[in-house]
Amino acid sequence: MACFGAGFNLRADRIKGSMTRNASALTVLGIETSCDETAASVVRQGADGAGEILSNVVRSQLDLHAAYGGVVPEIAARAHVDLLDTAVTQAMADFGLDFAALDGIAAAAGPGLIGGLIVGLTTGKAMALGLEKPFMAINHLEAHALSAALTDGLDFPYLLLLVSGGHTQLLIVKDVGAYERLGTTLDDALGEAFDKAAKLLGLPYPGGPEVERTAARGRATIKLPRPMLGRSEPHFSLAGLKTALRQEAIKRAPLDDQTVADLCASFQEAVADVIQDRTARAMDLYATRLGEKAQRALVVAGGVAANQRLRGALQDVARARGFSLVVPPPALCTDNGAMIAWAGTMRLARGLTDDLTAPARARWPLDPDAPPALGAGVKA
Ligand code: KG4
Ligand code: ZN
Repeated sequence: MACFGAGFNLRADRIKGSMTRNASALTVLGIETSCDETAASVVRQGADGAGEILSNVVRSQLDLHAAYGGVVPEIAARAHVDLLDTAVTQAMADFGLDFAALDGIAAAAGPGLIGGLIVGLTTGKAMALGLEKPFMAINHLEAHALSAALTDGLDFPYLLLLVSGGHTQLLIVKDVGAYERLGTTLDDALGEAFDKAAKLLGLPYPGGPEVERTAARGRATIKLPRPMLGRSEPHFSLAGLKTALRQEAIKRAPLDDQTVADLCASFQEAVADVIQDRTARAMDLYATRLGEKAQRALVVAGGVAANQRLRGALQDVARARGFSLVVPPPALCTDNGAMIAWAGTMRLARGLTDDLTAPARARWPLDPDAPPALGAGVKA
């Protein structure tokens, strides 16, 4: 369709990977269709455990959803049907070998929009069945969580801050399949809060980059709340901040360009303070849980990680607490097929394969034992 944004291919030369050793290299095709990116990628984990991206195709549906100010699930599912076979064909062409060279097929099975997940999951299962290869049903959040091993060769354990349009979580990543959730959002995800802030200020979707750009010429002089600051559990709550922003905007209507920029800068500063405080709290809990000797690394993943002001805030808090800050490059921080394929290689190396009854799941928490956050809505 003409209105799709241009896809892109990313061929990486050797990228350091996790230190787990395999008897031999493993090559996996990964499929991602959980939200509004249709993506396919081939990744190899060498016998030394290092990862290599052999092809990475992402077809964004941004243009299709922009008019609605957010992702429309039914449009997304239909677009995945239209785009997935050419994305897989392109990923295999860039890989340069045929399907026989694959050791397995991985597909995102959740959490996400159920229609899109069914498209990718069914495609992956059909390929695995036809090719007689192992199949891995991948938790999309686990794929984000494990990306740092692909891009930076990071070993376990580490602290993960996952901040996207759909998720806001602080997790201890102990091993493949072993996660402890420390914090989540009680209402809106961080990226969603940026998107809603942009919408109410008349800026286009997706709002995060627009708010950051506009904030650059604004002054953070408008007083806004810092929800959850100082709370002992590192949860987030962003709905109140958004409401306060709306009230400040209404007070100043009609808004001129400078006022919009000031509102954006003030909103971004409030988020920076909140993210710094909540992450600092999670770092303290991490050290308490794992002991002072545990590796101190903070990984940030998800589209919001692109925000330079927030990155700066995280860099400060990491430095103050002796954590290194690991932010995978933007193309691997946002939704992509390489992270699904990589999680597939890590699972396959451990014999963690799935049969063809693996369901698509709208909700799939990484830490099912985490106590519910008090006052949490459906996204906890
Ligand atoms: O991870 P992602 O690409 O997709 C999913 O949500 O899964 O994240 C997209 C989100 C959007 O809400 C977008 O507004 C936000 O990330 N975002 C940003 C920035 N760039 C993207 N938020 C704040 N500042 C940015 N520079
Ligand atoms: Zn994601």
